Amino acid sequence: MTAPEEDDPIAIPSGYVTNLFDIAGRVAAVTGAGSGLGRAIAIGYAQAGCEVALLDVNDAGMEETARLIAAEGRSATIHHVDVTRKAEIEAAADAIVARHGRVDILVNSAGTAFRSPAEDYPEEKLDLILDLNLKGLYLCCQVFGKRMLAQGKGSIINIASIGAFIGYPWSSAYVAAKHGVVGATKVMALEWRDRGVRVNGIGPTLMDSPLTKAAATTTSLTADWIKGRMLRPRLGLPRELIGAAIFLASDASELVTGHTIMCDDGYLTA
Ligand SMILES: NC(=O)c1ccc[n+]([C@@H]2O[C@H](COP(=O)([O-])OP(=O)(O)OC[C@H]3O[C@@H](n4cnc5c(N)ncnc54)[C@H](O)[C@@H]3O)[C@@H](O)[C@H]2O)c1
Repeated sequence: MTAPEEDDPIAIPSGYVTNLFDIAGRVAAVTGAGSGLGRAIAIGYAQAGCEVALLDVNDAGMEETARLIAAEGRSATIHHVDVTRKAEIEAAADAIVARHGRVDILVNSAGTAFRSPAEDYPEEKLDLILDLNLKGLYLCCQVFGKRMLAQGKGSIINIASIGAFIGYPWSSAYVAAKHGVVGATKVMALEWRDRGVRVNGIGPTLMDSPLTKAAATTTSLTADWIKGRMLRPRLGLPRELIGAAIFLASDASELVTGHTIMCDDGYLTA
């Protein structure tokens, strides 16, 4: 194992950090971009100068995200994609590559939650959670990963959760899916590292998003349990994930792959 050949491999070239986090001009596809965390990251990438493609089943939500991006003086493309359907992901990936010539970044944020005691967890909800949160994410990695491998470069960012590392009540399917996300992230990272594609995750704390509000209307048990163990009584804000999303998409994270970076306000330390 040797470091890349340079005249002086340990020298830091003048101005090295100037563009270290610069992702301007890169092409970013974001699933779940019609709401919540996906919307925030899509807007963050647009502010950073990326060409952004929005993927979701929520057309009105994507229109709103595109409007917010337009307000920044940027534009985004909208792709109606059910991430559980591989043909729809393929069509969107083809359209993005046809338009921009490549795709540099994929963020997988499409996902949902359903709360129920494990012994009574409805089978159709089990299918929904595993299909969307795990299989859908996996298929997006596969489809976009293949195009990134052909380019020899790319960065995939999977939105995980504190539930990817611990359990909490009435969330057995969600927690199983998110643990699976971390596993898939590791294996794809190791298979694709030497071909230029990095695969990482972001693990948010409980966030102030429409999903959290929707889940709280069905039961507050899960949220109460999580909130009772927070280091400070405060939900994460969607915009507070943008820094990690830019880091993982940028050359600043060149040696980072296979990891899930926790943006959990220290939750997992307790
Ligand atoms: N909100 C939180 O507290 C929290 C915490 C940790 C992790 N997460 C994860 O972050 C991700 C985003 O959550 P959010 O809070 O932004 O939720 P959200 O409900 O606000 O947004 C999710 C988006 O996914 C889209 N979606 C649903 N099914 C889809 C499908 N089949 N195909 C394509 N898009 C689909 C929805 O239309 C919606 O726009 C999820 O994976 C979630 O598990 C959320």
